[in-house]
Amino acid sequence: MIIESIITTVDSQGAINFAPMGVEWGDDVIVVKPFLETTTFRNIQATGAAVVNLTDDVFLFAQAAISNPQYPAGPATVVRGAVLDAACSWRELEVRSIDATPPRSRIETRVVHHGARREFLGFNRARNAVLETAILSTRLHLIPRAEIESELAKLQIIVNKTAGPREFEAMELLTDFIRSSRVRPPQSRGT
Ligand SMILES: Cc1cc2nc3c(=O)[nH]c(=O)nc-3n(C[C@H](O)[C@H](O)[C@H](O)COP(=O)(O)O)c2cc1C
Repeated sequence: MIIESIITTVDSQGAINFAPMGVEWGDDVIVVKPFLETTTFRNIQATGAAVVNLTDDVFLFAQAAISNPQYPAGPATVVRGAVLDAACSWRELEVRSIDATPPRSRIETRVVHHGARREFLGFNRARNAVLETAILSTRLHLIPRAEIESELAKLQIIVNKTAGPREFEAMELLTDFIRSSRVRPPQSRGT
């Protein structure tokens, strides 16, 4: 099963990077699959560590999908890394193996520590819709514009029905980003 998380990694200078990533979940082993061009991949390769943060705040997924935000975070307990303050719980990961076959790596890790801060509030359709919209926003170069607009319209209906203020804010951020982006998949360029 894939669980959507905010992965925190640090570079050789100690700068923290925050990125939404789906990870293959296991109690003891977690597999992370960053594309080779991501900062997450470079940092994990350099440090051999990462932290998987689980949070119900979808605004963080939205913002980190389209920019490089800094969020409040503290030091991890066991690995060289950082724990997101907004995490409900987290897993600290030590790399066991890296398969860097392009375009996407496969990094097998061992869970060496975990912690919890607060309750993860239950499922919500609007939160799921925001996550799907965040994914869309990272695939503008692959999906035809008409398909993106049609997906957006469906997702917005779900948000309108079930969102709280944080989900509305996240959806607005993503919609503005997508509508103002000039990125197009190759086949629809110039049309
Ligand atoms: C919910 C969600 C899941 C994602 N999962 C992955 C993933 O597994 N691997 C990946 O390379 N990018 C994934 N992305 C896209 C990255 O978050 C995006 O490319 C980000 O800019 C990478 O950040 P970084 O360069 O700071 O590491 C996902 C995005 C979202 C919104």
